Order: sequence, then structure tokens, then C-alpha cells
Amino acid sequence: MTSTAPAPASTGTATAPIAAATAPATTAPTATTPAQAASAELERRIARDPGSFRVLTGDRPTGALHLGHYFGSLLNRVRLQNLGVDVVVLIPDYQVITDRDTAERLGEYTDGLLLDYLALGLDPARSTVFCHSAVPALNQLMLPFLSLVSVAELNRNPTVKDEIAHSRQSTVSGLMLTYPVHQAADILSCKGNLVPVGRDQAPHLEVTRTIARRFNERYGDVFPEPETLLSAAPLLLGTDGTKMSKSRANSVPLGATADETARLIRGATTDADRHITYDPDTRPNVSSLVLLAALCLERDPHEVAAEIGDGGAAVLKRTVTDAVNGHLAAFRARRAEYAKDLPYVRSVLRAGNERANALAEATLDEVREAMGAFR
Ligand code: TRP
Repeated sequence: MTSTAPAPASTGTATAPIAAATAPATTAPTATTPAQAASAELERRIARDPGSFRVLTGDRPTGALHLGHYFGSLLNRVRLQNLGVDVVVLIPDYQVITDRDTAERLGEYTDGLLLDYLALGLDPARSTVFCHSAVPALNQLMLPFLSLVSVAELNRNPTVKDEIAHSRQSTVSGLMLTYPVHQAADILSCKGNLVPVGRDQAPHLEVTRTIARRFNERYGDVFPEPETLLSAAPLLLGTDGTKMSKSRANSVPLGATADETARLIRGATTDADRHITYDPDTRPNVSSLVLLAALCLERDPHEVAAEIGDGGAAVLKRTVTDAVNGHLAAFRARRAEYAKDLPYVRSVLRAGNERANALAEATLDEVREAMGAFR
């Protein structure tokens, strides 16, 4: 891959499963919840006027992106970009130290994220990738924003409470308690008005909306109240049956080799019933594997399960392995090409940081102007 010719990764096989995985308007089940209905309506507005939306989203650089990210959020970003939405992707490096003492593999993980984004088809000519630590104006917004939320509100955030409960650290840092405010700065520094999230991030979006509203009420209209685009993607479990996670070594990294993929899937937890079915409520582990194969093959999970039938876990795992390796082959080839040109890959982040700085500085100027008292 040369620096002047990024892979046109967003065409061809990589885009095919997007509709299946993420289009709520056409795949909405009959019992539509209010949140799903709202997301479907939002999708219609995006299709009508993509240029009026700016997405801000991101992935903490704490490990390799995996299949859960791929079907849950990454395909959706590329889809939005290709619709004409301005997609801004943050690598929130300062957020790494919310729940750990060191950020020692930050550079390596950041390179990995960039490789994944580019190989997926995130196009640096249209989309922006940047990191926290390169954008001082973003971080400065944290100060006025902190003044707009109460300690009681910070203490009530269910996602933060959950993270504190599961934290390996013995004490809770100030950054842990306030990182949803930092996320408000992430989103509002570039005036993002559309944030695609999984369910766990929804409380954070409420914090952002609250801060935007209170700032506007107190100092005058500066910020949009960002809208939440709920992910329609089904949840994939990790190979150990718990939530798939970057830092838990229970996932198949997108950049893994075909052999590593086979080994990881061979090690996945199943159950004692030899007959394979798709039954997410009663057989979560087996069903998650069936679902993964079905997503990769763009087929109905019940059909995939029925075909395996009495083949048991061995045939199931072979099916999943072949489906994943087949589906990701082109992506992995592009990723390997980009990996040969790290100077180019890193230049994408540098250019993104520049644009993010320009956006955040303009916003900070408006904030100071609105507040009147600061220079
Ligand atoms: N907290 C998010 C996560 O762990 C990452 C993130 C940081 C983010 N800032 C954000 C997501 C702003 C959306 C918007 O996945």
C-alpha cells in the first residue's frame, strides 16, 4: 500500500453485512420499543440530510478490536461515512488511566486501532481520527463542564458504578468518577450531534446532553444536544461465555491470523447438548457462536444451527472458524498491507489531530465568548 492510494475498503464484501447488522429501519422486530422507533426515525433523518450530522465516537486504546466491535459499531461507522455523515473517531488515550495505573502499550494499541480503521474503509479524506492527548482545547472544556454537574449526579451514573464495582484498583480516582464529563468534552468539542452507542454508554450520553443543555441555559446557545443512535446489533459473547472484551482475552481480534482464529474458536465454551440449536435465552454460548457464523455468512442463525444439527460442537466450531476467516480475509489482507507502511498510518492520526484541534479551539473560543469572563 502506498501513502497516496489507500485501499477502497468500503466497497465490495466488507460492506455487504452492514445492512443486516445495523439497519433498524428494515430489520426492526415486530415488538418495536420506543428506543428502536426513535432510532429508526433518526435513520430516516440521516438518510434525508447526512451532511447535517457529525458523529463522534471512539475506542479506548486498551487492546485489539474484535468481532464484537466489528458487528456492534465499526461497520456502522463506515456505513455512516459512506452515507455522507462527518465521522469523527476519537482514540481516548487519557481515558485509559481511569481504571489502570499505566498506559504502557498505548502506542502499540493505537497503531492497531488505526490499522483496523483504515482496513475497514474509514477514509481519511472524509473522516477524522484523533486522540485526547493531542487536543488541549478539548481537555480544557472539562473545567467549565465539571462546574455544571453535581457530585451526586456523578455518583449515580450506573455504568461508572458498575465499572467501579468490577475495578481491579483498590481506590476510585477522580478521573474515574468524572470521565463521563470528559466524554461530554470529547463530543461537544467538535459539536458532535450524533453518537452511536451500545446500551452501556447511554447514561454517558445523558450526561453530555445535560451539560449541553445547562451550558446553553446559563451562558447562551453554543452546543447541540447530541442524539443517541442505539446499536441494533445483537450482543456477541466472548469465548468464555462472558461479555466480549478487549482486555479479557476472550475475543477474536480482527487482526488475528486464520490459525489464531481457529485456535481461539476451538477454545470457546459450549454446552453438553450435542444437537446444535439457536436459542439465545437458554443456550447463550452455543447461540453466540451460531450467531457469529450467521453474521459472517449473512444467513439466518436458525438455518445455520439446523444445518449443523447433530454435528455437535466440533462442526459448529469449524463452521464458525471458516465463516470468520472467509468473511475477514479481504479485510486482513488490507490490514497487512497498511501494516507495511506505519509512517503513512501514523500520518493519518497526525492530520486528524490537526483537524480536531481546529474544531476544539473554535469551540473553546465560543465558550469563552459566551461565558464572558475568561480570556
Ligand atoms: N467510553 C467509550 C468506550 O469505552 C469510549 C469513548 C470515549 C467514547 N469518549 C467517547 C464513545 C465519546 C463515544 C463518545 O467505549
